[in-house]
Amino acid sequence: MDHFNIVSHASRLIREKLGKIQAGTLGLVLGSGLGPVAESITGATDIPYADIPGFPASAVAGHAGFLRSGTLCGRPVLALCGRTHLYEGFSARDVCLPVRALALGGVRTLVITNAAGALNPLFEAGSLMLITDHINMTGQSPLTGQNIDALGPRFPDMSQAWCPALVALARSEAARLGILIERGVYVQVPGPSLETPAETRAYRQMGADAIGMSTVMEAIAARHMGLRLLGISCLTNKNTPDCMREISHEEVLRTAGQAAGQMAELLRALAARPELDMEPGRE
Ligand code: HPA
Repeated sequence: MDHFNIVSHASRLIREKLGKIQAGTLGLVLGSGLGPVAESITGATDIPYADIPGFPASAVAGHAGFLRSGTLCGRPVLALCGRTHLYEGFSARDVCLPVRALALGGVRTLVITNAAGALNPLFEAGSLMLITDHINMTGQSPLTGQNIDALGPRFPDMSQAWCPALVALARSEAARLGILIERGVYVQVPGPSLETPAETRAYRQMGADAIGMSTVMEAIAARHMGLRLLGISCLTNKNTPDCMREISHEEVLRTAGQAAGQMAELLRALAARPELDMEPGRE
């Protein structure tokens, strides 16, 4: 089966199990330690990734593996609870298959969350950051190979990958709720080793404010299909090249778990806003 057939087969199976994806359905990708956000979803039906043909299944601690369908503050949502990563050996294309399947089913707005290290010295661990732009340092792309014209163009524009109107909406909702939220550039690295002090300095000088091992692949696949994108990083640790500290995966999960409450509160507020599903921007 070619890749388009795998994506459309997965998408069809999801619709068979859950019914037609309603207009205005929000797509959500929940990253490391952010599982508690899924508990905000009411009337939930779950499909394990293992039951969706073609879906890659992660084995990393802290990453669940199911698709949750339900409602968030009155808005229908499809939440990918857990994702796979390049460092597990999955290809860029495989990692993006779930996002493509949701988009093919009719999801037009996608919120991608992750756990990330802060590179901006003014940012603190435990706070949230809205992604305004990204840098792909993986050397990979989900669009490598023959273009799938049925999904999108060969050379998709990336001049405005992250929707400024959604960033503005998220900022105003965060302010209303009294949630501290930063804005910045996210760099995706392949991992799984964390960064050396020299790498940390290099990525900072390159212009990144936060660093992680996910998100950019999914963002590229989503923009290829013309989705409106919002990205929220949970800054689980702070990396400063001149006084590097050891970071453990447990610490990353613990801090993400602590910030998950604020992440959930913000997502509920956003879900309630009608502007969230305006026409997708192919700006
Ligand atoms: N570096 C890379 N990925 C991460 C980090 C980090 O410091 N924290 C959470 N994910």
